Amino acid sequence: MTHQTILVERHGRVGLITLNRPKALNALNLELMREVTTAARELDRDPDIGALVITGSAKAFAAGADIKEMQPNSYPQVYLDDWFAEWDQLAQVRKPIIAAVAGYALGGGCELAMLCDVLLAADTAKFGQPEIKLGVIPGIGGSQRLTRAIGKAKAMELCLTGRMMGAEEAERAGLVSRIVPADDLLDNALATATIIAGMSAPIAIMAKEAVNRAYETTLAEGVRFERRLFHATFATADQKEGMAAFIDKRDPKFLHN
Ligand code: CAA
Repeated sequence: MTHQTILVERHGRVGLITLNRPKALNALNLELMREVTTAARELDRDPDIGALVITGSAKAFAAGADIKEMQPNSYPQVYLDDWFAEWDQLAQVRKPIIAAVAGYALGGGCELAMLCDVLLAADTAKFGQPEIKLGVIPGIGGSQRLTRAIGKAKAMELCLTGRMMGAEEAERAGLVSRIVPADDLLDNALATATIIAGMSAPIAIMAKEAVNRAYETTLAEGVRFERRLFHATFATADQKEGMAAFIDKRDPKFLHN
């Protein structure tokens, strides 16, 4: 399928989605939103894919929702069309998604990175929620996910001032799992995704579901949820194989289903 705003490639069991609107610093217009969510859902359904990577360019992961597209819209229109709700579909993707972020990840760009499961940052990455400077607030979950990721004080400051934070501050704050040199970002992201895609697919999905549950529920409920899934792992051939391989001192050969 040909895309206008993204590139989709396969690297072994990893699906790579590259945002590709370089002239607009990968601003997220509605077409890009549809193409990313459609491609991600297709890769999610593909049994030959075990993990996804979403990346942008060296200058910008994405500089936010497309301001030129948004500017003329009215309240009834964005409300009736439920603008940006389609991004929620990315949160429904069951396979792990890595965001590989270099350059600007602002507004919707920061929110897109936070919709992913692991956030790898180049040392050039800059994160922020500058919507307030445009007379709006975040609209793809930024006020919620940023607050959960880095705490109220810092999230509040970023949302109220529009200040950007660099990769080191973002890592200290807990938004980013690792910083890598910009030139190595994609290789690192693909290598990490390949490790994940080499695990048992159902077990990786269970691990993602269990970690995400921590955001949605109490500790006691979350621990119960985790334990039920842990018990369920014993119904898979991959649990038998993973443990047998350890005991036999060899690499496991997971079936992925
Ligand atoms: N929407 C549309 N176009 C954008 C854009 C955006 N978010 N960000 C950059 N562009 C365009 C610029 O208009 C420019 O296009 P032209 O060449 O046609 O003028 C091109 O990309 C290059 O941008 P700059 O010339 O501004 O590049 P720079 O290096 O001087 O600055 C920047 C880079 C600091 C990221 C600056 O472009 C910028 O501030 N962008 C806007 C960031 C922003 O406010 N994002 C939040 C958007 S609102 C949002 O995301 C709402 C939400 O939560 C859903």
